[in-house]
Amino acid sequence: MQLYFNPASPYVRKVRVTAHELGLSDQIELISVSLTPVSPHEGVRSSNPVGKIPTMITNDGAAYYDSPVICEYLDVLAGGNRIFPAAGAARWTALRRQALADGIMDAAVLTRYEEAARPKELRWQAWVDGQLLKVRTALDALESENLAGVFDIGAISIACALGYLDLRFANENWRKSRPRLTAWATAIGERPSLATTAPPAS
Ligand code: BEZ
Repeated sequence: MQLYFNPASPYVRKVRVTAHELGLSDQIELISVSLTPVSPHEGVRSSNPVGKIPTMITNDGAAYYDSPVICEYLDVLAGGNRIFPAAGAARWTALRRQALADGIMDAAVLTRYEEAARPKELRWQAWVDGQLLKVRTALDALESENLAGVFDIGAISIACALGYLDLRFANENWRKSRPRLTAWATAIGERPSLATTAPPAS
């Protein structure tokens, strides 16, 4: 299998953590790419019409995207229901948490593009403020959740979203006034799957 990859992408990290947890990392060849909405990557675009990473090419030549689909594909490949709970309340909670964490990533990555890629004279501060409000409100919701004792696609997604905030939004200081989430992130971050996929400072 091949995975279009960038070490800073929290969505790619979800896939890599999932693969590591499932013992599949060795079966995945990482293809490093750099892209933004204004500098797309032709190789990615030829497999994924919306040109986003992660995009995975399976051994059968199928292209799958994006992180929720790839993670579930890997889970099934590894026997199923190891990272995605089988059914019932646990599954819905995991999927909702994945959506919440992916929403944090969406708002944070869009803000990053606004601040790092958009020409200064075109930046729109009210729009950035709106995205950061989403991030803060979602973090407050996570502070109120009981995340203890569960490791599934919801937990993986939350850990990767928090890792991206540490990488690109250290000034946000998300740990301030969120002690439960802080303790949870510290503990879960010691798992080898998360420790070995931590994005390099750049
Ligand atoms: C980043 O550099 O922040 C980034 C790179 C790829 C995907 C998303 C974010």
